[in-house]
Amino acid sequence: MTNEFVKIEKDRGIYTLIINRPEALNALNRSVFDALESFFKENLDNFDVKGVIITGAGEKAFVAGADIKEFLGLDAKGGSELSKRGQDIFFMIENFHAPVIAAVNGFALGGGCELTMACHIRVAGQHAKFGQPEVNLGLVPGYGGSQRLIQLIGKGKATEMLLTADMINAEEALRLGLVTHVVESGQEVTKAMDILIKIASKGPLAVKQSIQLVNAYFDKTQDGFKREYEDFGLTIGSEDSKEGALAFVEKRKANFKAK
Ligand code: CAA
Repeated sequence: MTNEFVKIEKDRGIYTLIINRPEALNALNRSVFDALESFFKENLDNFDVKGVIITGAGEKAFVAGADIKEFLGLDAKGGSELSKRGQDIFFMIENFHAPVIAAVNGFALGGGCELTMACHIRVAGQHAKFGQPEVNLGLVPGYGGSQRLIQLIGKGKATEMLLTADMINAEEALRLGLVTHVVESGQEVTKAMDILIKIASKGPLAVKQSIQLVNAYFDKTQDGFKREYEDFGLTIGSEDSKEGALAFVEKRKANFKAK
């Protein structure tokens, strides 16, 4: 199910999801969550999806956070349920088999910054701004931001950002490792597409397992090194790895089938 709040475009197996509430700076309301959830659920095992770009409509914002207007009237139980739902959707993105890139075209605040951090790679436009301003509202982050910000930029700077609510600009985000590229404003999706087209030519199972191995490092229930030798076995036993080796020997491009 898609809806008016998330537009979907497709090009060469790459899907661009455009969060489309520019009048509310693309804030994440329940309808946006419904559309994101259904896209990632429906395509969980669909290797025809070679990559996903998430971006925001308009020039001002990627996503300015959870929809604050939906918080009015929420009690503790309702708040925890909303937070858990957001976390579950963001875990689905983080564990998606194909790479998901956030093309950050403006404000990425609160739930918006958290959404970028659930993506595998972040590309920022020059005027992008990142922050976790929840303390301004008397809140903590709810969609994984308190954990993923530390993973990406380290405890000291993450704590400062969480406590001060200060925003950082794209250059600072690059310096801290929160994003991997800063591009001219308006070129975020193009840069993300270039990266995804390159990855789309690689072995899809190897891409999937690489994503899972990176995630395993941060999963306290997993031994990443054990997972690596298991996944090495899994990938080397695949048809694609035979094809990859044969293509190398025959000096041609590999024709991978995700098998
Ligand atoms: N939720 C709902 N509406 C929002 C919104 C949000 N997160 N952010 C912006 N909007 C709306 C504004 O209410 C405004 O709508 P109206 O015209 O109907 O009043 C419209 O978008 C434009 O916003 P501004 O007029 O405020 O634009 P600005 O240029 O003056 O300021 C801004 C831009 C600094 C991003 C400011 O809008 C802002 O501070 N937004 C809130 C950011 C925020 O606190 N995000 C965290 C939300 S909590 C969260 O995300 C919790 C979580 O982890 C789950």
